[in-house]
Amino acid sequence: YEIYFQGLGGVLPTLPMTYADLEERARLALPPGIWSYVAGGAGDELTQRTNATAFEKIGLVPRMLRATRDRDLSVDLFGLKLPSPIFMAPVGVIGLCAQNGHGDLATAEAAARTGVPMVASTLTVDPLEEVAAAFGDTPGMFQLYTPNDRDLAQSLVSRAEAAGFKALVVTLDTWVPGWRPRDLSTSNFPQLRGHCLANYFSDPVFRAMLAKSPEEDPKTATLTWVSQFGNPITWDDLAWLRSLTDLPLVLKGICHPDDARRAKDAGVDGIYCSNHGGRQANGGIPAIEHLPGVVAAADGLPVLFDSGIRSGADIVKALALGATAVGIGRPYCYGLALGGADGIVHVLRTLLAEADLLMAVDGYPAIADLTPDAVRRSN
Ligand code: FNR
Repeated sequence: YEIYFQGLGGVLPTLPMTYADLEERARLALPPGIWSYVAGGAGDELTQRTNATAFEKIGLVPRMLRATRDRDLSVDLFGLKLPSPIFMAPVGVIGLCAQNGHGDLATAEAAARTGVPMVASTLTVDPLEEVAAAFGDTPGMFQLYTPNDRDLAQSLVSRAEAAGFKALVVTLDTWVPGWRPRDLSTSNFPQLRGHCLANYFSDPVFRAMLAKSPEEDPKTATLTWVSQFGNPITWDDLAWLRSLTDLPLVLKGICHPDDARRAKDAGVDGIYCSNHGGRQANGGIPAIEHLPGVVAAADGLPVLFDSGIRSGADIVKALALGATAVGIGRPYCYGLALGGADGIVHVLRTLLAEADLLMAVDGYPAIADLTPDAVRRSN
């Protein structure tokens, strides 16, 4: 209740309390090219828009006389005990959203302060060892974009494991770039190029590929990094991915039940249902519509979900449709843009406060109470 009763007492939050306000203020705060990079998506962004609007057609069914003060939002994710059912989805080059450039460290600090895990992208601006040191006791996950060079992939994963990350998330839908007109029309790429991708640039295997160090010749280092994209991985590579680590392995970007089934049979530890927030492929159905089929096919395996979550109510609906944990993408980037780590903490706390109160009002005091019966579709 803290946020709400402070407000009644006259202590009003200075940061936005609605998603619309958060988005608008971030748009004004960020340089146009960076705004387009974060807010934009593939094609005419229809999939991105409907990812969010699809939640309007899913409604919670209130249940009464089930009130309790002992509400429990905690979840167990492949042995990781999380105080709440949300996590921060991986965001590459998130340093662009931070005034001091250290967006990964700010995200890690917010993770440490809230217990909400971050999934650190392969494309961090801060080295992953420093990121891991900053998230403290909150478990972190490392997200891999599989580079063409297998030794480099192994090096990135081994470093993450040694640094204390607790799970490996391999993103499957970004082996080639998506068609993002906004990026191409706002001269965004030169700004990205100016950023040091410390994860790559500090990696010993990556450095060994270069004639001159990234500090001496950043242009060649950037081109070499770009040349690592485009690895056409297939199901045949799954055994190799599995061999990279003993950490729990999660596949991100799974939307078809057959893919979920096959991943489970191959021994992965979690399925991550996502369409990358509509950034990679346009012309798809909203991600939330994929979730029930993926959950059924995963047959008990944890299912992470993201794409289109904009409110606490969206979180509760995704949980009811079977997600084990729900990922937040753009909203926390906007919190970072407006207030650094404090801004992210604000966004996470308001989302959780809304989810908690909604579950209380509607008579679903624990996550386990949220089954598909808790929601109905309307037209
Ligand atoms: C992303 N996303 C992403 N995913 C990933 O696996 N690795 C990455 O490096 C990135 N980078 C990235 C940058 C930016 C600016 C955004 C907005 C997103 C996708 C992200 O993890 C997640 O799937 C979506 O953001 C979820 O959708 P919403 O919540 O943004 O609608």
